[in-house]
Amino acid sequence: MVGPLSTWPSWPEFTVDSEEREKSADLTTFKTDIINEYGQENLIKSWLKVCSKLEEITKEIREKGNKVIPEITFEDLDQLSEQKKEEYKTVGCFLIRGVVQKELAEKWFVDLKSYVADNEDMVTGWPPVTPSILRMYYSPVQMAARSHPNSLKVAGELINWWHDSENAKDQPPLEPLTYIDAVRIRPPGQPFFGLGPHIDAGSLSRWADTTYRACYAPVWQGNPEDLDLYELSLRKKAKTRLFAGSAHCSVFRAFQGWTSLTTTGPGEGSLLLYPHVKWVMAYILLRPFFKAPNSTKEEDIMDASKWTFDAETPWFPGTFRPDSQRLSVTSHPHLRLRDCLVHIPPMQPGDTVWWHADMCHAVDTEHKGAGDSSVLYIAATPSTEDNIQYIDSQRDAFLGDNAPPDFQAADRVYSPEAKYKGYQGQDAIVSPEGRNALRLGVNA
Ligand SMILES: [Fe+2]
Repeated sequence: MVGPLSTWPSWPEFTVDSEEREKSADLTTFKTDIINEYGQENLIKSWLKVCSKLEEITKEIREKGNKVIPEITFEDLDQLSEQKKEEYKTVGCFLIRGVVQKELAEKWFVDLKSYVADNEDMVTGWPPVTPSILRMYYSPVQMAARSHPNSLKVAGELINWWHDSENAKDQPPLEPLTYIDAVRIRPPGQPFFGLGPHIDAGSLSRWADTTYRACYAPVWQGNPEDLDLYELSLRKKAKTRLFAGSAHCSVFRAFQGWTSLTTTGPGEGSLLLYPHVKWVMAYILLRPFFKAPNSTKEEDIMDASKWTFDAETPWFPGTFRPDSQRLSVTSHPHLRLRDCLVHIPPMQPGDTVWWHADMCHAVDTEHKGAGDSSVLYIAATPSTEDNIQYIDSQRDAFLGDNAPPDFQAADRVYSPEAKYKGYQGQDAIVSPEGRNALRLGVNA
């Protein structure tokens, strides 16, 4: 079976008695507020529905492995039928192959490597001992890839898979903005345990911010099947960064994405995804309200009806204010992560993978491939009001030779990139739409 991990890595397990867990007096109030607003009965109703649906999903993923993750070519994206689009949205992740010509992506990788080598005394990264995620944001290759017309075309299509029920009909469609992120070059043989199963776009804020939690109203109301994870009217105003933390992204990304510069297969520093985004998210939201039966037998633990409603325990499993939402086998047993977190299919240079803002994902702990595994983090970011505000501050940081605002932190060593050998600044942008997406020329 191509898909799940043959051996589960030693990623952390989150337990109620762990010293590591988030503790604070206000945790129960977030639970109480939701219970008071929507009612215990509705939460129980949802819990049972969601756990039962997860059984079905597990069965499908066990049968199909990573074939559950759809694949399409860049050329076919325009012709995607409404029915297929809905299927893709339900799964919540997919590959779009050949967004950039293979030869061009290969050239980018060669150029990127030599740029890093030319500036090796200035480039820093994470993890500290064996940095593979480089704190480099404005290299010519990154600027060219983000502003490549095909990259922006895909982003423009994907952001409009979301809809805004509040938007007046005469509003212009959302335009793609460029969120500037880092780059990864991971050499073979290098273990990496830093990104176990997690979901970005906030953590505790999903429960604590009243707007954010209202995005998930059907889950609280006992009707998780009605949850529409592509509705933007509230989501665009949700405070994902209600709590400070360098893991939290300031913009709303309709889809996160990787653009591959190398060939990368499962077990080679690749990505793992948990398809069927809606039901996983619904489970995570409900999980803090339920306590496991007092039994070590798996059949008892997996029987959702044996779990008891828990309004009191101040514990949100895998939730830490400054961090992304984290998941583990013991804290989220009905997700059956060992079966359902599957490797994406092999990627070639120029291929891309996209996953919904609420999707659980993880990065391979091992890289058994022969060469570097390199990706650019390029997301689909729509021009919502809040996003525009951040992109304007990002533009000012770029023009002022600072790291993008989300990547500025006192403990992060960063060398201003204008000093790098081969730096091209704005000249590396390859299209007018690339300038627009960075809001260059707008009040600049
Ligand atoms: Fe992530």
